[in-house]
Amino acid sequence: MDMCESPIKKLYRSLPVLEREGEKLSPRDRLSAISGPLLAWYEGHARKLPWRENRDPYSIWISEIMLQQTRVEAVKPYFARFMKALPDISALAQVEEEVLLKLWEGLGYYSRARNLKKAACLVMEEYGGTMPKTYDGLLKLPGIGSYTAGAVASIAYNIPVPAVDGNVMRVISRLLGSYEDITKGSTKKKLEGLLADTMDSKHPGLFNQALFETGALVCIPAGEPKCGECPLASLCIARQKGLWQDLPVKPTKKPRKIEEKTVLVISTQEKGEWRVALRKRPSQGLLASLYEFPNIEGKASITSFAQASSVAGVAEDKIRQVQCLGESKHIFSHVEWHMVGYWIQMEGSLPETFVSADIRELEGKYPLPNAFLAYRKAFFMTK
Ligand code: ADE
Ligand code: SF4
Repeated sequence: MDMCESPIKKLYRSLPVLEREGEKLSPRDRLSAISGPLLAWYEGHARKLPWRENRDPYSIWISEIMLQQTRVEAVKPYFARFMKALPDISALAQVEEEVLLKLWEGLGYYSRARNLKKAACLVMEEYGGTMPKTYDGLLKLPGIGSYTAGAVASIAYNIPVPAVDGNVMRVISRLLGSYEDITKGSTKKKLEGLLADTMDSKHPGLFNQALFETGALVCIPAGEPKCGECPLASLCIARQKGLWQDLPVKPTKKPRKIEEKTVLVISTQEKGEWRVALRKRPSQGLLASLYEFPNIEGKASITSFAQASSVAGVAEDKIRQVQCLGESKHIFSHVEWHMVGYWIQMEGSLPETFVSADIRELEGKYPLPNAFLAYRKAFFMTK
């Protein structure tokens, strides 16, 4: 026997063949059977990711929060920048909110960033600056739910708890041929219970990450899963019965509300330097406390434009030039903004009701959500 064989490979090799053709397994037995093949496959297929370089709970926590709703590739540069600026909990606890939001700019769901800071302050005050070392302790922190607590506890501390997100639910629903609605909290709870009882308790961090990897690389969210490459293939009901298109069951959401807006990129040249008008959003609600280009309800045409800009506080006789920047759309979880933008070049200073930002401040200081990205780009093109 090969003495160098890894323990995981050995486990895989020694697994009894649990399923003969036609033989039925209970969901529990089916789940108990996946650890071996899953871990063996993960050994050869784990992506090299920045947050996998160590098992520091802080960096795992930050990465897991960023990875909710955001793709791995998009997260990478944000993660690097964030860890450089705020390398530990104490730095996060002390950061100014605006600096934090600027680091988060473009990731969306900004309450996730605010909760990170809240949690860091709590860890400094109540836990002496060290992350809680139990699943229940983690769960008490703001912004940490069962998924994040499970991911941090299993990956950083090797505690055998599952980490169930939408990707894991997709993979498992297909594996079990389950028609339960994965948008229901009760479905998630049930799956967490099943996984807690059946997951590999020696390598929980690897087990959970192997499930993330299966969801990302093989049992993909859009399009046909690559069952031919899947470590779970021999156990998978969706594969046996050709059900992947029906699973997971996810009732369609009600349509998003559509809001039309006219976005004004009001700028001027002062002492040879371009400045642009920004406005801080209210501290509650969508995109709370972030900055925005002044905007008004409804789509104004270039002819109704003077009216629109006077609503925003720009006197008509101060306008030197107007250029339409075109339409753009931004989709949030519950609303869509359908926008038209105008670039307004003014004479003299910007109205005092606005924050006047120079180019450097627009880039490096004021957090401006991605909804305005098209107009921010247009501004940089026009100047
Ligand atoms: N998706 C969610 N968590 C992840 C992780 N730790 N690695 C890769 N993808 C993930
Ligand atoms: Fe998904 Fe196919 Fe693997 Fe089943 S066999 S878990 S459907 S990729």
